[in-house]
Amino acid sequence: MDHFLYRDGRLMAEDVDLAQIAQEVGTPCYVYSAATLTRHYQVFEDALAGMDHLICFAMKSLSNVAVLKLLGDLGAGMDVVSGGEYARARAAGVPGERIVFSGVGKTAEEMALALDGGVRQFNVESEPELRLLSEVAAGMGATAPITLRVNPDVDAQTHEKIATGRKTDKFGVPIDRARDIYALAASLPGIEVIGIDVHIGSQLTSLEPFEQAYLRVADLTHQLRAEGHTIKRLDLGGGLGIPYARDNNAPPLPADLGALIKRTVGDLGCEIEIEPGRLISGNAGVLLSKVLYLKEESDHRWLILDAAMNDLVRPAMYGAHHDIVPLVEPAAGSEMTPVDVVGPVCESGDTFAKARTLPPLKAGDVVAFRSAGAYAAVMASEYNSRPLVPEVLVSGDHHAVIRARPTIDDMLARDTIPEWL
Ligand code: LLP
Repeated sequence: MDHFLYRDGRLMAEDVDLAQIAQEVGTPCYVYSAATLTRHYQVFEDALAGMDHLICFAMKSLSNVAVLKLLGDLGAGMDVVSGGEYARARAAGVPGERIVFSGVGKTAEEMALALDGGVRQFNVESEPELRLLSEVAAGMGATAPITLRVNPDVDAQTHEKIATGRKTDKFGVPIDRARDIYALAASLPGIEVIGIDVHIGSQLTSLEPFEQAYLRVADLTHQLRAEGHTIKRLDLGGGLGIPYARDNNAPPLPADLGALIKRTVGDLGCEIEIEPGRLISGNAGVLLSKVLYLKEESDHRWLILDAAMNDLVRPAMYGAHHDIVPLVEPAAGSEMTPVDVVGPVCESGDTFAKARTLPPLKAGDVVAFRSAGAYAAVMASEYNSRPLVPEVLVSGDHHAVIRARPTIDDMLARDTIPEWL
């Protein structure tokens, strides 16, 4: 459930008319709903109630500091994958003991930054990374709490580019090699083994792959404990999918995932961590964009918007579907016609939707891309020298710009011409 609903024929973000934001801030712009973010976080809290747990928001999905502060103030931890994300989490006031450092390519600098500033644990993904972390931590006179990310060789049955739990994917250590690496970890200075980590992919629409992975983690927990390791925390990753199209079958709910977690690993006496990103942020945001032109030829129609693939890359990159709706609710019985929805960028890949059936739209009308809270603003670029899209946060009847649109001068100021040119 989200808080982007039509009221009196106008699409609202909570109690704010989105047309008013489009007018004030200009388009394209991202708009997030604080009530929706809060609700989605709370749904996970309820799902894990009764278990010792921490929900670490996968901030790669949406990393504006204002959003992180909102979630951090609710008690969320953060799953970070770079020094930049670590710094954002800290700038949002999230304490180190609630920050989990994930990622397959952590640098020595990133390790030192987190050890210095405080970190809940590193999710280590390979033997060389483990050795480097040991060196860095021991060199600082520090101890790095770690889990090892295991690769359970489970097919998450999701888009090829976001499946991460098969043995040919670059992530984690093969689960059948894990015991050797735990033995190594136990022998290294500056390393404290505390648990196991697993994450098999994103936008999962069935619980089955989660179940397979969690059962393998449960087995491994018993084996590692028998070998004398302390396994007191299980990080079970993120990945639960969201409905992108209103008329599709909805994926399982967080409550279903919570029940599965209790059933598969609930009796191990471990603290449970999860790292949801998309489910918290995805349907908590929209991208507003204005129609520039309706271009019509005898046999084809294109709706040319002022947003492009550089602002929302998911359709171009994954063939992803995002619902597109006008800010003014179409009259009942409006004629729906197919149109290609495209942006101004100079390649045909800059297509948001082919033959999408939409109500009549004309230049100047504003539309909203739904489900644009996750992996949207964070994946934007300045391709074609288009400034990054601003972000707005709505709460109740008020709103604020939480990232301003850079000016062209801001963009130019980052380039320098060497004196010898
Ligand atoms: N934990 C780890 C270690 C991850 O790699 C990810 C996502 C998550 C948690 C959060 O997964 P979520 O709950 O959001 O599914 N750009 C792609 C998605 C990439 C996901 C990367 N990792 C997209 O737009 O679909």
